[in-house]
Amino acid sequence: MKIQDLENKIVNDDCMNILVQLDDNSVDVVITDPPYGVREDEWDKEFDSRYKEWLGECLRVSKYGVLWFCSVSRMHYFIKEWFSVYRRVLIWVKPPGSVVHSAHIVNRLFYKFEPILVFDKGGIVGNCEKDVGVEFDWKEVNPLSSKEYNHPTVKPEELMAWLIRHFSKRGQLVLDPFCGTGTTCKVCKELGRRYVGIEKEEEFYKKALLNVERGCKKVVMGEVKLV
Ligand SMILES: C[S@@+](CC[C@H](N)C(=O)[O-])C[C@H]1O[C@@H](n2cnc3c(N)ncnc32)[C@H](O)[C@@H]1O
Repeated sequence: MKIQDLENKIVNDDCMNILVQLDDNSVDVVITDPPYGVREDEWDKEFDSRYKEWLGECLRVSKYGVLWFCSVSRMHYFIKEWFSVYRRVLIWVKPPGSVVHSAHIVNRLFYKFEPILVFDKGGIVGNCEKDVGVEFDWKEVNPLSSKEYNHPTVKPEELMAWLIRHFSKRGQLVLDPFCGTGTTCKVCKELGRRYVGIEKEEEFYKKALLNVERGCKKVVMGEVKLV
């Protein structure tokens, strides 16, 4: 399968069925929010048996590297296994009053942040436009209501825009193999990046198609604005 056939499309499939068919270095970067292995949802339960093949394939198909969301309690799995390409961690901070999910509470202490690991295979650190602003390596953004957005772990557009702008350039191809409701894809479209999304659940896939069609609510080109 040629990546050109998938460009600016979302595919309804298990990502491994697609990833194994792609050439090495065929997308510029992978930016993805995969299952964390901490939830009761069916789609989250394969984490332990599959996380190695998932990140292994993402690294193989990416030219520059991978941004990988994960849970605080599992981040060491990835750092230990891929230490040679692990470069840094970025942090999504949840402001006071955020929705608290039980999966993020340990000993009655709530994890107020989620890590995003940066794996640099060939220069993802430094792969950004010259005009991108200097920001901190953490970003405080309100989580979204799963009821309102019809997905239990939908990510905010502003958060994805922060990552996409700092780790890709306009015109580059971004792959999200666990695209859920299509947040990465719609923000890529808004920010002038090409995208490929893969989502195995038909319900979320259909929402992703609609969301990309409708476009972003909050993000404008080259700048992030809260409405
Ligand atoms: C954490 S969610 C991503 C949510 C997304 N960031 C959003 O904003 O909507 C992970 C998604 O991966 C999907 N998924 C799980 N295993 C998959 C697989 N093997 N291939 C493709 N998608 C998968 C799940 O259905 C789920 O929607």
